[in-house]
Amino acid sequence: MRKGHFQRVIKEKLKDYQLLVVSNREPYIHNWKEDQIECIRPASGLTIALDPMMRACGGVWVAHGSGTADRETVDNNQKVRVPPEDPRYELKRVWLSKEEEEGFYYGFANEALWPLCHIAYTRPVFKASDWEYYKKVNHLFAEKVLEETGSERPLVFIQDYHLALLPRIIKEKNPDALTVQFWHIPWPNPEAFRICPWKKELLEGLLGNDLLGFHIRYHCNNFIDTVDRELEARPDRERSAIVYKDKITYIRHFPISIDFDAIAESAAKKEVEEEVKRLKIKYRLLGDVIGVGVDRLDYTKGIPEKFRAIDLFLDQNPEYKKRFVYIQLGAPSREHIPSYKQINDEIDEWVEKVNWRHRTEYWSPILFLREHIPFLSMLAFYKMSHFCIVSSLQDGMNLVAKEYIAAKTDSNGVLILSRFTGASRELNEALLINPYAADEFAQTIKEAIEMPPEEGTRRMKKLREIVRERNIYRWADQILTKAIQIS
Ligand code: F6P
Repeated sequence: MRKGHFQRVIKEKLKDYQLLVVSNREPYIHNWKEDQIECIRPASGLTIALDPMMRACGGVWVAHGSGTADRETVDNNQKVRVPPEDPRYELKRVWLSKEEEEGFYYGFANEALWPLCHIAYTRPVFKASDWEYYKKVNHLFAEKVLEETGSERPLVFIQDYHLALLPRIIKEKNPDALTVQFWHIPWPNPEAFRICPWKKELLEGLLGNDLLGFHIRYHCNNFIDTVDRELEARPDRERSAIVYKDKITYIRHFPISIDFDAIAESAAKKEVEEEVKRLKIKYRLLGDVIGVGVDRLDYTKGIPEKFRAIDLFLDQNPEYKKRFVYIQLGAPSREHIPSYKQINDEIDEWVEKVNWRHRTEYWSPILFLREHIPFLSMLAFYKMSHFCIVSSLQDGMNLVAKEYIAAKTDSNGVLILSRFTGASRELNEALLINPYAADEFAQTIKEAIEMPPEEGTRRMKKLREIVRERNIYRWADQILTKAIQIS
């Protein structure tokens, strides 16, 4: 489905509803840079995906105001119109105290729920004080959402694991609201989930939804199995639904995506070609084989595993020395949390080790850039690369894989993709890897580099067709249409 078509059909479908999107992360962050205010886009798959939908639909997006200049840029109702260059919808900011951010965001959401839902062998940390803040902040978000409701029926579209209690609170206060939630991360099996001390409250919160979406069917099945084990609920597997206390919640999978056309169009611009030349000179990218990776610096992304495979690849294929460079772009994330400090140290050690082992006087195999990269430069890195590696140990979807495909307008380039991403279910023309299996991974890097050009182009063309077709507008249309159907 193309953007124009989506815009026409969605207006008609939503005509009796008021669309309210809610997430923790905001799509535009205003920060002070010296004495100027700059607006940045966060490194977040969620916001990358939902911003085009909101631009097309209009409405209000309620999110935590986390920027240093966010308060200076809102009006009296705590709102700012975005995107700044072409305002299309309202962003309403919710303010959290330092203690609330610590307990809710860093604590329960990211030290408990994130590792609980991702099987990456980092233990969740459950603290009663974090849980108290999680509940408090979910109530605060509910209050801010309900302040926005008017005469039309609200369609509250909730995002992710930060707000698991929100649907129930909203339903209790406004039973007429249509509540839909999309869970952007995996849902684990019942055995893994049962260690959470507040599992029942979380599940009850989520069953306040009329529709609950995951990326893949496997996560839907895990969720239904978990509820079946933990609550006196009636799973209706035929209809893929759960009946709990006389209320029905439909569970469906909707693989999220990107605005393919917009990315492809930007990637084809002359400015990107110029940026390619500029970056090649700046970083002295002289090799004829360039690989790229773009990740938030998170232990679920398999970054050490990737460097271990590159190390092995260079050991086994010394002829690529001086010819090969791997550019790792890493956006700092959640650095306040000990497990994130640890993964950052581990990544630094790997870069140092691999570069030290293989470097020559003028050449090192890994270029690691720990920074938020502007979109234009990211497109330039995608464009100049011969292959891209996404090596997540587990990932709900992974939109970098889809962005890479969209940016490859000349259909050159090979995607190496972890089997443990949601994206691997759709993108089967990528070279699929198990990031834990170092030898197989190293061998796949070689295969990507040595793939005959016709074969690479054939695969990339197919991948581009898939992502062009299954874009973010199709995702948004499917989830919102389903919500309206069941209401
Ligand atoms: O996609 C999962 C997710 O946690 C989003 O909810 C979030 O915006 C993104 O990853 C980045 O994480 P954070 O918002 O914690 O920076």
